[in-house]
Amino acid sequence: MIEQDLAGRRALVTGGGGGIGLACAHEFARRGAHVTIADLNADAAHAAAGEVGGDAWVVDLSETSALDDLTLDVDILVNNAGIQRVSPIPEFDPDTFRLLLRLMLESPFLLVRAALPGMYAKGWGRIINISSAHGLRASPFKSAYVSAKHGLEGLSKVTALEGAAHRVTSNCINPAYVRTPLVEKQIADQAVFHGIPESEVVEKIMLTEMAIKRLVEPDEVASLAGWLASDKAAMVTGASYTIDGGWTAR
Ligand SMILES: NC(=O)c1ccc[n+]([C@@H]2O[C@H](COP(=O)([O-])OP(=O)(O)OC[C@H]3O[C@@H](n4cnc5c(N)ncnc54)[C@H](O)[C@@H]3O)[C@@H](O)[C@H]2O)c1
Repeated sequence: MIEQDLAGRRALVTGGGGGIGLACAHEFARRGAHVTIADLNADAAHAAAGEVGGDAWVVDLSETSALDDLTLDVDILVNNAGIQRVSPIPEFDPDTFRLLLRLMLESPFLLVRAALPGMYAKGWGRIINISSAHGLRASPFKSAYVSAKHGLEGLSKVTALEGAAHRVTSNCINPAYVRTPLVEKQIADQAVFHGIPESEVVEKIMLTEMAIKRLVEPDEVASLAGWLASDKAAMVTGASYTIDGGWTAR
């Protein structure tokens, strides 16, 4: 029997329709929280909300100007929605760069901004930012993604400092490659790019930096998010927790 240590808490998970976000939604719901799934994909958002007995908020979080005046009544905010685009800088489409920055840095800022007043009024809150090993390290061809995730690290630390007096914590989780639709698409793309079978992409391309040679599972990320949301993690703030099989130990 899982401890219902998040009973009475309201959680908002962006990109909760699939992958890591969906695993987080399940983790929070199992621990007793009410979960709202914010996702661009209406079918996925409604299906996920049904699975966890929560609500769906169908929204394009890259449309950031629509979030300027938002107010959020949530205890736990998980900034998770994200996409990947890969290209050398000289060929990187400027609008695509801006899209990633809006979705993965501006929108987390605006959602944090919308949630903090309610958290401050209650004297309790948890901001959990799904960053990446690429929030701490760079790889070629991922200029927008690496920039957005490094920016998210900074936003998370500032939120931690401002929120501390109000018992609001803010932390990042930094996974390496996680077995989700986002990565499965990259496996197919990289197989074509490198001219090797998909079965070899994971071992030869993705796991080169990781000491433990396997993909991370979404529920491994979700269990850390669940702990960060709990009262046991009250003194953990401004931190970045790697789940990267040793990648950043190098
Ligand atoms: N999968 C990995 O290997 C990995 C590794 C490190 C970090 N991450 C990060 O974890 C987060 C989740 O990744 P994932 O692998 O679960 O991805 P995913 O593609 O499986 O799921 C992302 C979800 O975000 C939603 N989404 C996309 N654009 C949106 C928008 N404009 N507005 C609202 N929702 C939108 C999608 O519909 C989808 O449900 C991302 O921030 C990603 O950068 C992933």
